[in-house]
Amino acid sequence: MAKKHYVMANWKMNLLAQEGLALANDVLSYVNDDAKHVQTILCPPSLMLSQIADAVGSKIAIGAQDCHAEISGAFTGNVSAPMVKDAGADYVLVGHSERRQYHAESDEIVANKSLAAIAAGLVPVICVGEHLFERESGRAIDVVVAQVLGSVPEGIKAPFLLAYEPVWAIGTGKVPTINDIEAMHEALRDVLITKRGVASEDAHVLYGGSVKASNANEIFALPSVGGVLVGGASLKAEEFGAILKAAS
Ligand code: PGA
Repeated sequence: MAKKHYVMANWKMNLLAQEGLALANDVLSYVNDDAKHVQTILCPPSLMLSQIADAVGSKIAIGAQDCHAEISGAFTGNVSAPMVKDAGADYVLVGHSERRQYHAESDEIVANKSLAAIAAGLVPVICVGEHLFERESGRAIDVVVAQVLGSVPEGIKAPFLLAYEPVWAIGTGKVPTINDIEAMHEALRDVLITKRGVASEDAHVLYGGSVKASNANEIFALPSVGGVLVGGASLKAEEFGAILKAAS
């Protein structure tokens, strides 16, 4: 059987509802019903979650781009994990580098959000990745392994995904070498298996950072890559459709 591949679209803070609905419908036409090992997930802005969830039905899963670590309370402007679930989502990104950078999210906050997501019945997609100076100083694997140990709660049981996204590769068109991606993913799968007790077949590590139709094939071909998290290229149905094709 073919290896499971998750193909996630991170729309970030883009599109109005009608545009999101049109894009979701276009993406639907690229979903291959026979490719059972490919799970397509759209992560629209949270205001659109339920509309997009209703529009795509069961062929595509929905994820939010963030949730709060608390279930409810005086956190103006935030969205809780139960609200995300209630809106029809099954996944939620936590610790995306843009959240870490612009909202000062620490590994501890990301770990707490992961637990809140699991408690609400969501699959957290825990994001990690090194900065360029860390890559250039040869410390990338050490830095990201430490981030995983801080962001993936000990004793975590429920299904979760890890997304490796080098900060310098996000939205820049730059991508690590295929060897560097494979080395990082092997190291991260090893940490999940040895330090978090995840079964080998459940240790899914997605790659993100300037994924596009032209590089998707070689990324999916890597044995330790369990899928991709796509930003810019997920806003164009044809481009994202080609990535889905590469996954299947
Ligand atoms: P990108 O973004 O594909 O535009 O590089 C990826 C992400 O931020 O998840």
